[in-house]
Amino acid sequence: MHPYVNTAIKAAREAGSIIVRYVDRLDTLSIERKSRNDFVSEVDRAAEAAIIETLSKAYPDHDILAEESGLHKAGGDYQWIVDPLDGTTNYLHGYPNFAVSIACFYRGKPEHAVIFDPMRDELFFATRGQGAQMNNHRIRVSGMKSLNDSLLVTGFPFRDDQNVEEWIDAFRLLQPKTSGIRRPGSAAIDLAHVACGRFEAFFELGLKPWDIAAGVLLVQEAGGIVSDWAGEQDFMQSGNIIAGGPAIQEQVATLLKTVKLS
Ligand code: IPD
Ligand code: CA
Ligand code: CA
Repeated sequence: MHPYVNTAIKAAREAGSIIVRYVDRLDTLSIERKSRNDFVSEVDRAAEAAIIETLSKAYPDHDILAEESGLHKAGGDYQWIVDPLDGTTNYLHGYPNFAVSIACFYRGKPEHAVIFDPMRDELFFATRGQGAQMNNHRIRVSGMKSLNDSLLVTGFPFRDDQNVEEWIDAFRLLQPKTSGIRRPGSAAIDLAHVACGRFEAFFELGLKPWDIAAGVLLVQEAGGIVSDWAGEQDFMQSGNIIAGGPAIQEQVATLLKTVKLS
């Protein structure tokens, strides 16, 4: 295992134990509203601080982009992209589907990825060119070819200014052609579950870099394909993403290309 992955796993597990420590005391947490339906709690902040401390101690010349505290610039070629708690709304309701997501980029390209789901105790990681693993077993995306038999996963728009109409168009196109569509509430876990073949494909609009940075590399290293809704590679900029096993990703991308995005 690459030493950077080792460090990221250590950071993710530290964050995971902070997150789990408060699971039975959610009513005592102080919570702030970032915008409508967008919350941050002291647990998000404490988990992020623990991750940043571990990463910056190990690699003082690496940049870190973290959801709650923004860009910590050191000026190097490496940048870590951190979502300390993906699925905050689930967490605050005690719904056990949330994760820590940490990616390491070198000159703008993803090199390493770690996603840790502390409730299922599932640890996913990948290094470019070396495949993806879950709890030390090699994982692969689904090889399914039939869209009809596929289970898809998505995220609903939830902020006021988001593409609700576009998402509804996508749902109209996909729903009658698949086995089902789920909305579990953590983009990082959605992508990790595509990487290990539980879902055939994931689609969502308007995500942030920290939601998808690690998950994208996991899916690619597990043999999957990732594109934006135009079938291009601009998903890190737009946050519009389709990720899946090769055959189903292609079929979903062909359908979603027809959705007019504003
Ligand atoms: C959210 C989750 C959710 C997705 C949202 C994200 P957060 O992240 O990934 O599944 O639909 O767009 O913002 O805010 O819980 O870290
Ligand atoms: Ca997130
Ligand atoms: Ca978050």
